[in-house]
Parts: sequence; structure tokens; C-alpha cells
Amino acid sequence: MTRSKSASQPFDKYEYYLKSVQSPETDAEFIDKAFKDLRKRKAISMREDFCGTYSLTCEWVKLGNKKQGIGVDLDPEPLEYGANHSAYQSLTAKQKKRVRILCDDVMNPKLPKADIVNAMNFSYSLFKKREELKVYFKNVYKTLNSDGMFILDCFGGSECQEENESETEHDDFSYFWDQDSFDPVTNEAQFYIHFKRKGEKKRKKVFSYDWRLWTIPELRELMQEVGFKETVVYWEGTDEDGDGDGVFTRTEVGEECDSWVAYVVGLK
Ligand SMILES: C[S@@+](CC[C@H](N)C(=O)[O-])C[C@H]1O[C@@H](n2cnc3c(N)ncnc32)[C@H](O)[C@@H]1O
Repeated sequence: MTRSKSASQPFDKYEYYLKSVQSPETDAEFIDKAFKDLRKRKAISMREDFCGTYSLTCEWVKLGNKKQGIGVDLDPEPLEYGANHSAYQSLTAKQKKRVRILCDDVMNPKLPKADIVNAMNFSYSLFKKREELKVYFKNVYKTLNSDGMFILDCFGGSECQEENESETEHDDFSYFWDQDSFDPVTNEAQFYIHFKRKGEKKRKKVFSYDWRLWTIPELRELMQEVGFKETVVYWEGTDEDGDGDGVFTRTEVGEECDSWVAYVVGLK
């Protein structure tokens, strides 16, 4: 019997998550450039709320020798993983000194201040009540520097309002994004991530997300309500095949599509 190479190795859920859903290098560069364009200066400090394994924070400190990165997450498990794996371990000693990781609640009003706070991979969607999300946004506002910028990602489109499962094939595994349910009355949705390594059974519900799908206007209005002076939306361009091209530009007019990802920014 021949066994695939991956089947003989332990299953590392964070490794497959990173390969499937994260692009921390691109995100760090995009956030840095957006701040410079909007604030006309270079950002020094960035706080990654809901940081998980904090790969974005690690990429941030690589962008310049003054850059400071702060990661905040409640759960010690991904934080411990992050400390022992490549994004952090491949940093130089000097870069590591500019990383500060806190096992804490993003609602803590005493979190360290920063030029930028980000909430990526839609993590704020776990706040299902408007009042809860508002308390979080208020805390972000309070803990930003005086010309600070808050940035989060957001997704939507008709595909997000129905049950469906998509498979993305990689060389040695498949990633599945499973939208299990959507309730149009509450905008609440249940998502799962499954993985299947070649030659193995599908590993179901490796990650689960019980979310409310917030819309761009709701996010912008809430940002304004807590004090942000201006809000900005970055929308993705389209390639020849009609797919997203990875280039996000500032806009006030979106485009109807089955599935989209955008960035929403609040300027203090
Ligand atoms: C969807 S994961 C996102 C991880 C990472 N930001 C990424 O881009 O993939 C959400 C993370 O938020 C953390 N989390 C949930 N509620 C939190 C809270 N109130 N304060 C801090 N972290 C929280 C969870 O422990 C989890 O690691």
C-alpha cells in the first residue's frame, strides 16, 4: 500500500488555515499603504485584534525597523502556537522585540494604543448585537492614537445568503468553506471550515464560526456613531475572467457580485 506523504504527518489545523485563508504579507503591505495614503505619514504601531496565531503582526514588524506590532487574543491556544511557529520564529531577535502579544479581551479599555487597529478575517462578526459591536468599536476608537485608523474586512454577495459549500484544491489537500445556514431575519449564519488531505478522510468542522453578517453601511454608520470622522471603503477590482484581482481601491460605489470581500476603514 502506498501512503501519501501528508497522511504520515500529524494534522496541524493552523498550518492548513494559514495556507487556505490568510495572506498576512499582502495584508500588512495593504494596511501600511492605506494608512500612508490616508494619513500622509508612516504608521509605526499596529494592533491586531483577534490575532489568533498573529502572523499579520509578525509581517508588520518586517516592514520597517521602527514598526511595533501588538497582537490581542483571548485564547491561549493559537497564541502559543504562534510563539512556536514560523511566522514568529523566523523573525530576527530585533524584530521579535517589537512584537507584543497579549492574552486579553479586545473589549479591555486598557489595551495599548496604536496608530492602526485591525480586525481581520471578519472576527468582529461574532458580535451579534449592534450594542455589542458598538462597545467594541468605541473601545477601538478610545485606544487609537489621535490620527489613528481602524480597518476591518467584510464580505457579502448573494452566495452568502444561502447554504453552500465550496472546495479549493491545493497540491496536497482541499479546503472547504461551508456555509451551513443563513437566517435572513437576523442575518446570522453558521460557517465551517473542513479540510481533506490527499489519501485521507475529510476532517469536518475543524473551525466553526457562528456569526452575524454585518453590511458595509451598518459598519460605517457604527464607526461614525462612536466618533470616527470619516469612513472609507476599499473595493476589489476584477480580472479578465470576472474574478477578484486582489487590487483594492477606494470607492463609494460597489458592484453587484455573487461573492465579494471589501475593507472598511474608520479615521479618527
Ligand atoms: C476567526 S479567528 C481570527 C484569527 C486571525 N485574526 C486571522 O486572521 O485568521 C478569531 C479569533 O478571535 C479570538 N477572539 C474571540 N473573541 C475575542 C475577544 N473578545 N477578545 C479577543 N480575542 C477574541 C478567538 O480566540 C480567535 O482566535
